[in-house]
Amino acid sequence: MTTYNVGYIVGSLAKASINRKLAKALIRVAPEKLKFHEISFADLPLYSYDYDADYPAVANDFKAAIKGSDAILIVTPEYNRSIPGGLKNAIDWASRPYGTNSFANKPTAVIGTSPGAIGTAVGQQVLRPILGFLQAPQMNAVEAYIQFKKDLIDDEGNVSVPETEQFLRDYMEAFHQFMARVLTVLPRDA
Ligand SMILES: Cc1cc2nc3c(=O)[nH]c(=O)nc-3n(C[C@H](O)[C@H](O)[C@H](O)COP(=O)(O)O)c2cc1C
Repeated sequence: MTTYNVGYIVGSLAKASINRKLAKALIRVAPEKLKFHEISFADLPLYSYDYDADYPAVANDFKAAIKGSDAILIVTPEYNRSIPGGLKNAIDWASRPYGTNSFANKPTAVIGTSPGAIGTAVGQQVLRPILGFLQAPQMNAVEAYIQFKKDLIDDEGNVSVPETEQFLRDYMEAFHQFMARVLTVLPRDA
């Protein structure tokens, strides 16, 4: 069976990010055939199309990391009922210069956690049309809105609630199947 190279983006820059913990938990429970690498946006400047004529190396590297991944997993907080500005800025960089959108045809999945009861549901609904506009096929279901209660996931990604751990395992299995289906009909980037 094919091995897939999955890039993951954590939407938070916070050192104690609960979404980073969630990303670690997802990697722990993922099918063996998925290999993960983080794609960080921390060093990207604020995007402007003034850069389009001469993209900085950090942005070219960011675009190449997305393009070189078989699939992209976005694990993000909700900020003010939207997505964090840093994540949107990173997506804008990846989408340009015009005609070089790195997300095109890239299988994606979205997940997030917050202490609030609706667990990033609104933020994810903001992110989905952005990915749609960028022609990124996205897993519609399983949806995952994780309410982060104290000690749910530790720094190593261990999940304290067995039902939640199983849910995350099922989510990653569904993502595995989704990317396999998409990549059957769309070519993998070299
Ligand atoms: C600027 C800001 C806006 C926030 N807005 C929301 C929100 O709209 N919905 C929500 O559930 N939590 C919101 N929160 C709380 C976050 O869910 C919480 O800080 C969480 O820890 C963020 O995830 P992270 O630890 O991975 O950065 C907000 C936090 C910040 C700093």
